[in-house]
Amino acid sequence: MDEEIVYMKEALDIYGESVFAQNKFYEGTHHNKEIVLCKSGVGKVNAAITTQILIDRFQVTHVLFTGVAGALDPELEVGDIVISSSAMQHDMDASALSPDFPKGTIPMFAFDSEFRADAQLVKLAETAAERLQGPKVKIGKVLSGDQFIADRELVEVYSALFNGTCIEMEGSAVAQASFLNEVPFVIIRSISDKANGEAPASFAEFTALAARRSSDMVETIIESL
Ligand code: ADE
Repeated sequence: MDEEIVYMKEALDIYGESVFAQNKFYEGTHHNKEIVLCKSGVGKVNAAITTQILIDRFQVTHVLFTGVAGALDPELEVGDIVISSSAMQHDMDASALSPDFPKGTIPMFAFDSEFRADAQLVKLAETAAERLQGPKVKIGKVLSGDQFIADRELVEVYSALFNGTCIEMEGSAVAQASFLNEVPFVIIRSISDKANGEAPASFAEFTALAARRSSDMVETIIESL
């Protein structure tokens, strides 16, 4: 979202701006590193298209994805941070077709449907999160689907089925596109809500703080890359 890239945009020395697939990409430098900043848009299709453009048009060597998420782990509170160990799609469901395709599994796909984040980027993100001095930081599985979840019962279902740490709408698409192109990635999510009945109001209230925290983390990661 716009609110989520505003701080990073201020931090960059921007020298170029271009549009692909109706989406704006800012090229700039930060700590002598070449950066491309963009919004993914909402949902897995937008996120996959954006990631592929970053890889094809800009030859990015690393993908850092930030944003907000609903908590699945009951220990997480609004403002806490989740760093992806992996990501998968909770709404991929071809289980009616065959027992070989359990929920969350991409049918007829040559690879594991749970995409592992890059170990070095996870470590750098963890160090960056510790510098925030406040939020709890968890490394865990990010679940993505094209639904905003605001239902306690669904939280129980997804937690039991997939053992996810947080739930959102893009991460696994970024992860899949990065994996298939052999580009290292990490997803960093600030918890904006608990995916329950209060989630819509909590989401609206928390986005600005989450964006600030994410930007601070990304800046630290870029410095250490
Ligand atoms: N992003 C932030 N909160 C979310 C939720 N509850 N469901 C899906 N995506 C989210």
